[in-house]
Amino acid sequence: VVIGPHLPQGLTTPATLVLADRLERNLTRMAAFAGESRIALRPHAKTHKCVEIARRQMELGALGLSVATVGEAEILARKRDSRAYTASEVTDVFVAYPLWADDELLRRLGRLADRVQVTVGADSAQAVERLAPIARDLRVMIEIDCGLARSGVTPAGVTVVAQAAERINLELSGVFTFPGHSYGPGAGAGAAEDEARVLAEAAEILVASGFRCEQRSGGSTPSARLVRPGTLTEIRPGVYVFNDAQQVELGVAAMDDVALMVASTVVSRPASDRFVLDAGSKVLGPDRMSWATGHGRLADWPHARVVGLWEHHAVVELQGRGPALGEIVAVVPNHVCTAVNLVADLLVVDGGSVVERWPVAARAANR
Ligand SMILES: Cc1ncc(COP(=O)(O)O)c(C=O)c1O
Repeated sequence: VVIGPHLPQGLTTPATLVLADRLERNLTRMAAFAGESRIALRPHAKTHKCVEIARRQMELGALGLSVATVGEAEILARKRDSRAYTASEVTDVFVAYPLWADDELLRRLGRLADRVQVTVGADSAQAVERLAPIARDLRVMIEIDCGLARSGVTPAGVTVVAQAAERINLELSGVFTFPGHSYGPGAGAGAAEDEARVLAEAAEILVASGFRCEQRSGGSTPSARLVRPGTLTEIRPGVYVFNDAQQVELGVAAMDDVALMVASTVVSRPASDRFVLDAGSKVLGPDRMSWATGHGRLADWPHARVVGLWEHHAVVELQGRGPALGEIVAVVPNHVCTAVNLVADLLVVDGGSVVERWPVAARAANR
């Protein structure tokens, strides 16, 4: 993989770049997988937060978007208006989160539901009851925990949540889970099995109790392509659009599947095996899982590791020849979702030049 010679000239670093050809390949591959497996694709937009990418995902056949917050949905599911690039195609959003609605969120959800189809997540009868004032405008999906031990009920816990939805006339679409325990070496297949099993159990319990359960929604990037046809009705991968060092270290993506990198200058070379880049935690993001080999990777230097990260310094260790002082290198962040959320726009690179700037429109839309 040789990125360096293809980096645009005259970059001011650090700069967060998107390689257009790789992005397109990642988008089309996942869309093709979903199509061939007859599973709907509802990509999680918290990864890219960009209208332009949401729009392309819809063009490639996505059913709608998944989002983490109402704010992301408001920005990405905006109907076409005077701005040329709004994603009018996004007419269906799923807030894949155990939403705890207050008056402000109810108002905003109600307005959103006037424009697009809105489904929200819930994992308690209490959270469902809070949706009562706008119940007729929404749908709900019950969250099940399949092994991550984050939010979600056990399959046996679905009925109380479904009964609460029935009491307030809120349409129940089905069940969803996030197999986030796929984020460990060799853990993808087991997490995909857990996901399918637990969703099937929950759906059976609902149907046996007289409820409808049409949707079984799952999918993280490490497990998405391990989903077997007929088990889930939709998948919600997010990271697949760009990939990152975590996906490379898990073996889910190759280095040349990574579509986002931070161009960064070697600003110091204090020792022969160590140099310092001008991309720190404020542009790469601070995430580092226990099994990660460093704070990020260098696209052109497979043996290099970011061993130390400060706000504006990344310290890289590399034995032997490495980049010279002043040279610009491409850093692959550990976790791309947090890296994207740190910048105002992404520089789109095609054929070695910056061809567009995409605003990270839903940046910091945390509510
Ligand atoms: C509920 C939910 N669904 C889907 C995803 C997307 O998974 P990934 O980040 O592995 O692409 C996430 C990611 O955190 C999530 O929390």
